[in-house]
Formats: sequence, C-alpha cells, structure tokens
Amino acid sequence: MKIAETLASMREVRLSFDGTVGLVPTMGYLHEGHLSLVRQAKAECNHVVVTIFVNPTQFGPSEDLSKYPRDLDRDLKLLEPLGVDLVWMPTAEVMYPPGYQTWVEVEALTKGLEGAMRTGHFRGVATVVAKLFNATQPDKAYFGQKDAQQAAVIRRMAVDLSFPLEVIVCPTVREADGLAMSSRNKYLNEFERKAATILFRSLSAAKKLYESGERNAESLRETMKEVLASEPLAQMQYVSCADYDSLEELDTVSGKTLLSMAVFMGKTRLIDNFVLG
Ligand code: PAJ
Repeated sequence: MKIAETLASMREVRLSFDGTVGLVPTMGYLHEGHLSLVRQAKAECNHVVVTIFVNPTQFGPSEDLSKYPRDLDRDLKLLEPLGVDLVWMPTAEVMYPPGYQTWVEVEALTKGLEGAMRTGHFRGVATVVAKLFNATQPDKAYFGQKDAQQAAVIRRMAVDLSFPLEVIVCPTVREADGLAMSSRNKYLNEFERKAATILFRSLSAAKKLYESGERNAESLRETMKEVLASEPLAQMQYVSCADYDSLEELDTVSGKTLLSMAVFMGKTRLIDNFVLG
C-alpha cells in the first residue's frame, strides 16, 4: 500500500497502474461504512485508491472543522489488509493552493434538505470531489447511500461536467440496532446513543406504512415526525419524502423515493434515509 501526500507523488503511483481504478473519497476516521465502499471497489476494479482529506470548504462557520475526529494511524491499519493500492492524504495547501478561486456549484439539487441547513456545504463537497476525480482519474468512484443528497449531487455533477467515470452508490452500513454508522456517533453519550435508534425506527415505520399501500407523502412524513416526537432526547430538524433523483418534495409517492431526516441528539446532528420503490 503506497501512501502519498503531494499531487506529484500521488500521480506517479497512479500512472503506474494498469487496468481499472476505483476511488473511495473519505474524510478519515474510518468505520465499517467506509470499509464497505473499499471492499466493493476492490471487488470491481484492478486498483483501489482511497483519499483521506478533511475538506475545510464543506464545513460551515458554526461547524467545528478543528474538532472533526482524526486518527490516521488507525485508518492506515484498517486499509492495509483490504488490499488498497494507494492512499492519498493531501494537505489543505495541496488541495487549495494560495490564490484558490475555482468552485463547482450544483444548483437545484443543493437547495433543499442538507443544503438548506448547511449553506455552502455542497459547493465544498462538489468542488473537492471534482478535484479528486481530476487528480486520481478513476474509472469508478464509490459513495455511500448514507449521505443521500451528497450521492445525488455527485451523480449529477459527474454527468454535467462530463467526467468519464461511473458513480457507484453503496448501501448504508448499520449497527446491530439499526443506527447508521457515522464518525459523528462517537459524540453521543450513553443515553443519546440508545435513543439514536429513533431515526431507524421512524424510517422503518414510514416504510411499513408505504408497504401497506400508503402513497400519500404527507402521511409518510407525519408518521416519521410522530415516531421522532416519541423520543424526548431527539430534536427533529427536518423529515422529507422526496423524488429520489430530483429531491423535490412529493405529494404522491410513485417512482423511486427518498425518505430522509436530520435530527439533533443533544448537540450531535444525525442524518439517515431509506430508499423506497
Ligand atoms: P465521509 O463522511 O468520510 O464519508 C466517506 C464516504 O463514506 C461517503 O461516500 C459516505 O456516504 C460513506 N459512508 C459514511 N457512512 C456510511 C455508512 N454508514 N454506510 C455506507 N457508507 C457510508 O462524505 C464525505 O466523507 C465527504 O463529504 C467526501 C465525499 C469525502 C468529500 O469531502
């Protein structure tokens, strides 16, 4: 497993690869969710590149970039046995050289949901992912369904900017009790951690209603809200029942649909989603 920091040293290793390359972009502090993307990339591509970069431009002013959890030694130990070929860990100066002024904006898709709560977040994500695509030139790039809007934004951007690659969205990996794995779960205290299953339970209730034939989107949103309200430690930020591709709120569910939510458990903000249809 090669490890590179500068663009030139990463490119040297990248250009030595024969055959297909799979890219897994991460911000590190890896868990089983990240590793599932690496395993899928390994199964489908000749070479796997993992990037670890805590991207400053996707953090808002009230979101503490300096507090984002980091453990590079542990990350590298987790990646090595999976047969990763190259880990690129650029510094902020490598990604954003002095005088930096070029941005990627995906328009309508970033207006609602996470985009409405986190101004500028998806501009930072789209920009850094476009740069990672350009620098590593993968054939396939792997993202988690856990961050549903991010996956939708990147799928759109890859088509719009003519990136010659395939964006692959992999299923959400969960703890045994249903909580979606996330680097943020470590901020939860014992009580919040137990209560955090309310997101999964709320999504499950709406899915069950859908499976019993309900197609009224407002009823599904109401069900999610009611279940969330039953947990005193949970503060709902939004629930959504939207078209899977456009992310527009629905009146009636027909095709592929995204149920999603953001919930504060104490100071920790958690997101989760289910795909229907
Ligand atoms: P990060 O939060 O580190 O996540 C890296 C990738 O892992 C993302 O594609 C995310 O959706 C996926 N992932 C996280 N938790 C998951 C889970 N429980 N199951 C399946 N996949 C999961 O997302 C980012 O970093 C950044 O925004 C990035 C794309 C790297 C750009 O900076």
